[in-house]
Formats: sequence, structure tokens, C-alpha cells
Amino acid sequence: MGKKLLLANDHIPGIQSYDVYRSNGGYLSVEKALKTLKPEDIVEEVKKSGLRGRGGAGFPTGMKWSFLAKPEGVPRYLVCNADESEPGTFKDRYLMSRIPHLLVEGMITSSYALGANTSYIYIRGEYYYVAQILEKAIAEAYQNGWLGQNILGTGYNLDLHVQVGGGAYICGEETALLESLEGKRGNPRIKPPFPAIAGLYGCPTVVNNVETIAAVVPIVNDGGDSYAAIGIGKSTGTKLISASGHIKKPGVYEIEMGITVEEFIYSEAYCGGILNNKKLKAVVAGGSSVPILPADKILTTPAGEKRLMSYESLSEGGFASGTMLGSGGFIVMDEDTSIVENLYTFTRFYHHESCGQCSPCREGTAWMEKLLHKILDGHGTLADVDLLWEIQSKIEGNTICPLGDAAAWPVASAIRHFRSEFESFVSNGNAKHPIN
Ligand SMILES: Cc1cc2nc3c(=O)[nH]c(=O)nc-3n(C[C@H](O)[C@H](O)[C@H](O)COP(=O)(O)O)c2cc1C
Repeated sequence: MGKKLLLANDHIPGIQSYDVYRSNGGYLSVEKALKTLKPEDIVEEVKKSGLRGRGGAGFPTGMKWSFLAKPEGVPRYLVCNADESEPGTFKDRYLMSRIPHLLVEGMITSSYALGANTSYIYIRGEYYYVAQILEKAIAEAYQNGWLGQNILGTGYNLDLHVQVGGGAYICGEETALLESLEGKRGNPRIKPPFPAIAGLYGCPTVVNNVETIAAVVPIVNDGGDSYAAIGIGKSTGTKLISASGHIKKPGVYEIEMGITVEEFIYSEAYCGGILNNKKLKAVVAGGSSVPILPADKILTTPAGEKRLMSYESLSEGGFASGTMLGSGGFIVMDEDTSIVENLYTFTRFYHHESCGQCSPCREGTAWMEKLLHKILDGHGTLADVDLLWEIQSKIEGNTICPLGDAAAWPVASAIRHFRSEFESFVSNGNAKHPIN
């Protein structure tokens, strides 16, 4: 079992409450930051740590923070993205509900580093009970002087608000999130300008994932170098993985970046192997939008080395034989899983969640769902499989936001690696499974 930085204390009874959290080293990063560090020192430590955004894209956090515009007299905002709607990803829910004060602490330290005096946690509507847990933690932080005016007598002021969304996947896209936070329909904005220049209410804004913000706490406490010493290559630190599917021990695991995929799936410390000792068929390694890989390709790189749980190793081979770490939603499928059925479920989701702004996504996701339904229903032809391929290729890269890519990649990778399964549905002329 590797080092834990975020979930080290999650087993402590009562850690949800302020008193227990504080007596186990809670809020030390705020004390250290506000009393001994300048905001720019913290940005420097975050840069040194090599932390990359945990929301999916893996953009270097320190670099993102240093892009934040600082015009005189204009407020800056930090917005935490707690929308977490990517199928297969549930790590942020775990972190927020088990150790809510860790996120509150990370928000205070990060807001100070960015010069924000008002910050928001935007959380999906379905996590209403988690929002209530956060509200309680925030109220406790106010009562104990960590939020509000003149925090720790340093002159720094911060208000932190929780905003509950309406339950739309698109509102996880950072500019759609900002639109929604402003009270508008959650449609992604055309970029540039990026939020660092014109974000919430047109002001400079940083949007970061829950896990990214929580990771700032150990980085400030122990220093960026200490964080960077964990992991491998440009995948530093630890990563929360939501493990689900046909495994013996589903759940949220904090791993040190760089352990092998094989160890993650089969060791007792993590997933504990495939359910009922069946064979591994395929893995979606980073949430439903990343390419699915068959067992041999997820376990081994094209160079014949063991594949590692890291940004670089998982993407080795490009999309021809690799995938992405994404948001760490690790979905395991055993030998009995129908890839076509599974793809239909994913595609239905993307069609439902497309905001409809861009025609390739709005129309393309609808057609992909229809074609998959036809194939699964036993009425498909080989030409339909080719048409499915063509449609996905016309969505990718042709939309305002990456929801289109997220819908196209599962289709492309399923056909690329499991074409024979589509063909067997087609040639049988009968659905193997009724659609409900
Ligand atoms: C359709 C869509 C949904 C997304 N959902 C989330 C989400 O639920 N949580 C999240 O942190 N990032 C999500 N993202 C990524 C965000 O746009 C953004 O990159 C992220 O919040 C930045 O934070 P980070 O740098 O800490 O990763 C989504 C992106 C897209 C295109």
C-alpha cells in the first residue's frame, strides 16, 4: 500500500467534524499560508509539485494559476468543480462526504494564493446530501475563524459558498459551469477568452477539480518537492481512483502514481482481482469518455512493458493502442461483458447530456444512439457499423467543448478493438439481448 496524502485520515471516527479534523492536523496549511507565505510563494510550491488537474484533462495546476489575470480593482474568483457527472467517477463524492474539511481547507489556502475573496463550490444536484455536509463544514469553519473577515488577524477576507447545480453533465465543463453559476443555461462558452482572463461575471477565475484543490493542502504543508518525489515522470503525487465493475473490491483508492495497472486490478490492496475469478476482457481507465482497451492493451504498452497508472503510460500508443487517465474512473469488464451493449448505455448518456449547441454533437450523438439500438435490436447491417465509425469521426474536434470528443472516443475505440462483436450482432440478424 502506497503513501496516502488525501485519504490518510479518512478511517478516523468523526473526521467529518471540525474538532476531530482539527485535532488531526486540520487547517495547518491555512495557518502556514496566511502567516508565513506570500500568495506567489504558494503558486511556486504548486508549480514545483508538478500537480496536474484531477478533473480529467491533467493540465498543470501551477501553470493554470500563473495565467490568472490580476487587473487592479477587479475581483478574482476560485471555483471548485464538484459536478462529477462522468460515468464511472465517484472519487470527489467520497472525498467531500468523508473529509469535507479537507476541501474547505484547500479552498481557503488556494483562494489566498490566487487573491480571491469570494469562492464557490459548484456541486451537482444529485449530490444534495453532500452539499449539506459541505454547508455544515463551512459553517464550522466560519465559527472557528477560518472564513469571513480578517482571518487569523492577517487582514485576509474570504467568503465561501456552495452552489447546487441542476444535475447536468455539461455543467461540469468549466465554462458551462460558470454560465450556470451566473444563473444562466449551462451552455459552454467559446474560448478564448479562457476563464483565467474572463471567467465568472467576466472576471479572472480559476476553475479546479475537488481533488486538485484538496491536494494543495499536503503541498503547502510538506512543500512542492515532497509531493513531486511521489509518482513517476510528469505524473506526480497520488491519485484517487474510482474503481467499479467486475472486481472483487470496488471503491475509491488513493494510489501513488506509477503502480502497474496489473497491481491495481489484481492486488489485495486495491481491486482484489476479477469477480468470480473470471477473465479480464476490457477496461475503461479514466471515466466513460476515454477509449476502452482490451485486456492485453491495458496491461501492456506497445513496447511490451507493463502499463502504469500514470498520465504518460496510459496514453502510450496514442489512440491506436492507448487510452487516458482522465478523471480516474476505472471500469473493469469481465469476459462475459457485451461491449456493444455497454457502448449503447454510454452513447445514450452522451446523447441525453449534449447541450445541443453544436450540430455535430447534437445530431451525431442522436444518430449513434439510433444506430447502436438498431444493431443491438438485430436489424443492423455491416454498413451501419461503418456509418457509426464515420459519424464519430465527424464529431471529434468539431464542437465548442469536448463533450463531442467524449461521446466519439468510446464509439471509435469499441469499433477499433472489438469490431468482431459488432459484426456478430449484424450477421446473426438477431438481438442477443433485449433492449430495455
Ligand atoms: C462535458 C464535460 C464534463 C466535465 N465534467 C467535469 C467534472 O464533473 N468535474 C471536473 O472537475 N471537471 C470536469 N470537466 C473538466 C473541466 O472542464 C475542467 O477542465 C476542470 O474542472 C479543471 O479542473 P482541473 O484543472 O483541476 O482538472 C468536464 C469537461 C467536460 C468537457
